[in-house]
Amino acid sequence: MENNQAAFILAADNSPLQVGPGPDQSRPAADEIVVKVAAVAINPSEWKVCSTATVQDAGHTLCADYGWLTILQMKEFGYLPLEYPHVLGSDVAGTVVKVGNEVKRFKAGDRVIGHCLGLLYGGAKHGAFQNFTTLREAVTAPVPETARFEDAVVLPLAISTASVGLFDDLKLRLPSVDPIEQKHRDEVVLVWGAASSMGSAAVQLAVAAGYHVVTTASAKNHEYARGLASGKHITVFDYHAVDVVGEIIESIPSRGRRFAGAYDCVGLEDSTRACAAVVHAFGGGVLPSVLPPPADLPADVQAICVNAIRPGTVPGSPGSRVWREYVPGALAKGSLRTRPEPEVVGTGLDKIEGALNLHKAGVSAKKLVVLL
Ligand SMILES: NC(=O)c1ccc[n+]([C@@H]2O[C@H](COP(=O)([O-])OP(=O)(O)OC[C@H]3O[C@@H](n4cnc5c(N)ncnc54)[C@H](OP(=O)(O)O)[C@@H]3O)[C@@H](O)[C@H]2O)c1
Repeated sequence: MENNQAAFILAADNSPLQVGPGPDQSRPAADEIVVKVAAVAINPSEWKVCSTATVQDAGHTLCADYGWLTILQMKEFGYLPLEYPHVLGSDVAGTVVKVGNEVKRFKAGDRVIGHCLGLLYGGAKHGAFQNFTTLREAVTAPVPETARFEDAVVLPLAISTASVGLFDDLKLRLPSVDPIEQKHRDEVVLVWGAASSMGSAAVQLAVAAGYHVVTTASAKNHEYARGLASGKHITVFDYHAVDVVGEIIESIPSRGRRFAGAYDCVGLEDSTRACAAVVHAFGGGVLPSVLPPPADLPADVQAICVNAIRPGTVPGSPGSRVWREYVPGALAKGSLRTRPEPEVVGTGLDKIEGALNLHKAGVSAKKLVVLL
């Protein structure tokens, strides 16, 4: 732990991450866990934050990589201002080396995954891109001996983000490790973007909660989408189809099912508008999205941007219950699948910069992973 090294972002600009002596990780708070990191996964927020220098001023200037996310929204969301030097990274897998004095579920030597909160809570000490990091117990889960770190690391941020949209915002039933009674399967949840990391987790959690999932992906990823859980509980549509919204709306009552809610796990303007059209067709309601939605949606659609920090910071929240009551059992049973599949792109902190650039170029049904 004395030799902690980290890949630092030094300023809000596009300059490369720099590897150097990392934060002191020897003193976890009462509810914290220090982990020797074995694998990290890459998420869009990391290269987006590296690009915030493109923001010109407070107000309505757009950040190039955040689409229509304004700097004011970024502040509300907790992204800015960051204190530099900062350590980015949300997804880790590794081995516990030390626990705070109120941590009861973990001990040194345990293999775990965790959602690092450093972008929104706790700063550099809580970033993933370092040899040792600090996790909050609430968003940490044990990894079975049989699972590889590079597989399990694809999940943490996606579990938190999927949970907030489905269970905090849409207020759906929580997932269960045990099979759900068949009678619930006449309720449909639309998850837009099954091939994204966030969508992959949302599809799995919604099926585990007993819903039939209608989802979207490119044609090449339909088999992938149906393979996220029992295929009979998943219907996939090609989001490139001209009338995909009409097809989705028609498919639900025609198969004797009832609409229970929609979650936009892509967050682009066209995906949010498509989801809003479906929600509107079924009488309106809340529409969670992974990015801030456009303002001019149908009046009966309350679109909101999910905040993935909640499971880690709000005790007893639905997401924290998913982490505690569902994830450990489902990982042990193998019913929570480690999807998207990892693509290991290197070993060492100095490989993270290249991984961010690869991710920025685009991924499809894949999670980029760096081993440490
Ligand atoms: N609000 C939060 O707290 C929070 C937390 C985490 C992430 N996010 C945001 O969530 C977004 C998704 O992140 P991610 O890591 O899940 O992304 P990702 O894995 O990089 O997403 C790539 C996938 O998106 C799919 N996709 C692209 N456009 C689509 C569309 N119009 N309709 C359906 N699918 C589409 C592609 O599917 P095909 O290959 O099939 O075309 C591709 O496989 C990012 O913008 C990220 O910043 C927000």
